[in-house]
Amino acid sequence: MAVTSKPSTSTSLRHETMLIDGAWTDGNAREAITVLNPGNRKPIASVPRGTAEDIDTAVKAATAAFPAWMRVPPRDRGRILTRIADVIEARVEELAKIIAEETGNAIKTQARPEAKGTAEIFRYFGGLASELKGETIPFGEHVLSYTRREPIGVVGAIIPWNAPVLLGSLKIAPALCAGNTLVLKAAEDAPLGILWVARICQEFLPKGVLNVITGYGPEAGAALSAHPGVRKLSFTGSTEVGKLVMKAASERIVPVSLELGGKSPSIVYPDANEDWVVDGIIAAMRFTRQSQSCTAGSRLFLHADIFDDFLNKLAAKASKLKIGNPLDEETDMGAIINEKQFRKVCGYVEDGLKQPGATLRFGGLPPKDGPLSEGFFAIPTLFAHDANDWRLAKEEIFGPVLVAIKWTDEQEAIRMANQTHYGLAGYVWTKDIGRALRTAHAIEAGWVQINQGLGQSPGHSYGGVKQSGIGREFSLEGMLDSFTIKKNVTINLATP
Ligand code: NAI
Ligand code: MG
Repeated sequence: MAVTSKPSTSTSLRHETMLIDGAWTDGNAREAITVLNPGNRKPIASVPRGTAEDIDTAVKAATAAFPAWMRVPPRDRGRILTRIADVIEARVEELAKIIAEETGNAIKTQARPEAKGTAEIFRYFGGLASELKGETIPFGEHVLSYTRREPIGVVGAIIPWNAPVLLGSLKIAPALCAGNTLVLKAAEDAPLGILWVARICQEFLPKGVLNVITGYGPEAGAALSAHPGVRKLSFTGSTEVGKLVMKAASERIVPVSLELGGKSPSIVYPDANEDWVVDGIIAAMRFTRQSQSCTAGSRLFLHADIFDDFLNKLAAKASKLKIGNPLDEETDMGAIINEKQFRKVCGYVEDGLKQPGATLRFGGLPPKDGPLSEGFFAIPTLFAHDANDWRLAKEEIFGPVLVAIKWTDEQEAIRMANQTHYGLAGYVWTKDIGRALRTAHAIEAGWVQINQGLGQSPGHSYGGVKQSGIGREFSLEGMLDSFTIKKNVTINLATP
């Protein structure tokens, strides 16, 4: 969680600075943002409230660094990313702790895997540098026509707080591998982990290649989206802000990648009334990240034959998740990022409790006193309802509130699953492989998993359809599509 403060009021608090043109600085910021631990609402550190001028300085630095960086042989750029991966890997516990503290995500289930995943991302893209290949086009013997994968220029990236270090690295690593330079705007609620990664990167990178600005969305974020020096925009966050970024991009016809929200369906067939599926539903719903995940399987379509029995099993397992201090190794589930999101999640639960036709099967409003009331702790909650068109079944809650909907006819289940303006992920649960594939192919989403709830790893295409976004960044094709331009060169070989 972030609150604005005067720098003078935070004398005893650790203060982190921004990375601009190879230097660690407060830039033009007159104020600071205090970063809180969502598990106890206590301040951890402060960062500058970066301004439009800071964005401008950073974009100029990235512009100046671009010509030399794009000429570094790709394998050397790749080697730098691999070295960064080595250092992150060696210091992974340090990073895990920072992530847990600033995001409220439990160290055991989320923050440590995120820190390890970050090293993996740098290693993966480091190995891809030689794959920035072009192709030749057979126009005939008199002509040589080939393509080059060239970097775009200065990339402006904006990231959210839910998995800030992983999502930030998914912009830094492919953008730099492809020869671009970068200005990244960290999320105001969780800037510390990505600044830590940037410190390691800066030990290996020429100045200006990577710049990281801290600050608020409508100030620093909007200034970055609108900056004429930015040649490519890459945004992860809400659909609402994604539209603003796309609007800003349209003013200058700048390519844009958007990884936005979701309301992903989980379709459970009658043969899947088993414990491992219940565990899978808990994983797909990302209860252990307080369901603050764009791919959360937050609409559970359960076959009528198993509806009650399955929900009883799910209730029993969900109630065993240990909620509490994110830094405690025993904790499965930490805290919601900030007060605003916490209130929003509680608002959805209150709405569910009032909704005619909806039944609360487990969970509910968070405890008002006791240790959990010291932080923004929500509890796993499930509402059952026959309808698919009420608010909780339609809107992205970004909290541990799951809705269960009964189905009997497969076509009807698929129709309901697709009855959403989102299309990021989907989950299908059955051992009948024909049925599973038929349904996976019918779901309108960028990524469908069968019989598993987790499984995101570098290399697969990841991204949304409909209002969940455009573009793919998680793979080789993602890097090529999102961070390079294909230039064609055609040579006449038959000159007299
Ligand atoms: P947000 O979309 O406002 O924030 C994401 C990033 O965008 C942050 O760095 C923020 O500073 C920046 N930003 C905000 N306004 C901006 C603007 N006008 N121009 C440029 N950048 C701007 O998300 P927020 O408010 O933190 O969360 C609201 C909802 O968004 C959540 O409840 C959830 O539904 C969704 N969300 C989805 C995420 C995903 O992974 N797809 C991540 C975070 C939030
Ligand atoms: Mg917002």
